[in-house]
Amino acid sequence: MAVPASEQPPGDPERGRDYLLHGGYVGAGIPIQLWRALTALGPNPDTPIERLGVDPSVPIDMNQYVSHRGVEVVSGVNCLGCHATMFRGEFVIGLGNTTRDWTPGTGATARTKQLASFMLSNNPEALREVELFLEGAAKLEGKTAAPFRGLNPAFRLEEVSAARRDPRTLERVDEPAFQIADTVIASDVPPLWNLRKKHALYYNAMGRGDFARLIQQIGMVLIEDADEAEAIQPGMRDLMAYLMTLEPPEYPEPVDAQLAALGEGIFLNRCASCHGTYGDDETYPNLLVPTEIVGTDPLYAQTLRESGLIDWFNRSWFAADGAAYAAPESAYIAPPLDGVWATAPYFHNGSVPTLLGVLDSTRRPARWTRSFSTDAHAYDLDNVGWLHEATDRDGTDVYDTTVPGFGNAGHTFADDLDAPSRRALLEYLKTL
Ligand code: HEC
Ligand code: HEC
Repeated sequence: MAVPASEQPPGDPERGRDYLLHGGYVGAGIPIQLWRALTALGPNPDTPIERLGVDPSVPIDMNQYVSHRGVEVVSGVNCLGCHATMFRGEFVIGLGNTTRDWTPGTGATARTKQLASFMLSNNPEALREVELFLEGAAKLEGKTAAPFRGLNPAFRLEEVSAARRDPRTLERVDEPAFQIADTVIASDVPPLWNLRKKHALYYNAMGRGDFARLIQQIGMVLIEDADEAEAIQPGMRDLMAYLMTLEPPEYPEPVDAQLAALGEGIFLNRCASCHGTYGDDETYPNLLVPTEIVGTDPLYAQTLRESGLIDWFNRSWFAADGAAYAAPESAYIAPPLDGVWATAPYFHNGSVPTLLGVLDSTRRPARWTRSFSTDAHAYDLDNVGWLHEATDRDGTDVYDTTVPGFGNAGHTFADDLDAPSRRALLEYLKTL
């Protein structure tokens, strides 16, 4: 099924970039004076990009801004914390962060705890900020863990936060609005430079309508109410307009043009009907493919279909007047493949470390581990993806495809190619 187009309200890309780096879309935060006191205790983190007016102690996954309540704060995780990363020595905005560790006892929870233990102040506005910040963070405690490092629990964060909000006013409530299943929800992070081609958001294309409203939902962790959401909306429109201008990085080594041309022929025959065509006359069908047809692990799509978040969202401030809605199906979108050489690991669950593995299901390791270094040596430009090794040991740095939801089967559309044809196809994919 092709996903129908949805009109996006206009926005200003330049203002959007500024909002991304400096905006208060996350909501409540840690008052700056408290932040300075805390960070004076430790070393400054390395910052990959300069941000004007931002204290050098603020890491790239947090923003510094004046909150909705007029308090200058520091807060995160901002968009860059999940959607930007060091890759082969460069900071790439829009590339999913697959090195971040969201397994139990790490990441957001541990950091929040650490900060919380220092919180003290006798300034009432600042106290209110801290209270909102800690309340939001506390709800996430212990509920957001991904099974392996590199996977991202974004929708579990949303579920946990939304369940404690009134859908219309977005105010916090004590009684949960819906129950949350025990299933782990975690996924890879899609590259944002494909947004310009997409008619719907997310791996299952459930995010329909106004992209800015859909994404604003991340504010459920820390914003105060619908009034604050309203104030954030113009900045989010600009931010979406900025994301539409992102471009993928280019494959850094020479490509064999003859081999790639051969690969293009194979691609047009076997792949383009789902993934579209590339180059000057690009096309993209926005095709939603049932899980039985693509054959990749269906649990992620199924879990989101059953989640109370869907009904909550469709009754919420975000969906007011039908401007945005969630429509999950047992299907995955066939994604645009622009810059696909750089987006390993592959599939919605990140179960396949290389593009060669996507093209040959016999080359997909059942249990594998990679180096989480982001330098050039950790990426394999020949087989295209993360350098990795198969392993039998346990550990959160081992991706285990036998865990429910994290299987690596399916998408066998290139399995029957002979080895030279597969190489040609791989060569072509490097050029997208
Ligand atoms: C905690 C990590 C996290 C944060 C913070 C986060 N995202 Fe995401 N984002 C994800 C994950 C994971 C997905 C994929 C979820 C899915 O498709 O099921 C995603 C999906 C998206 C998509 C849809 C992409 C597509 O191809 O369908 C957009 C657009 C997006 N995020 C933008 C943003 C913006 C803008 C921000 C900041 C306001 C943000 N995200 C903050 C993790 C995050
Ligand atoms: C029937 C439609 C269909 C055909 C034909 C098809 N694909 Fe896909 N492809 C999909 C879907 C759906 C996904 C997403 C699967 C998931 O995330 O679980 C996908 C995912 C991928 C991915 C992973 C993208 C990422 O960033 O994770 C690559 C690479 C890919 N396809 C390449 C190809 C190539 C090359 C061919 C031709 C040999 C091909 N596909 C044929 C539907 C198709």
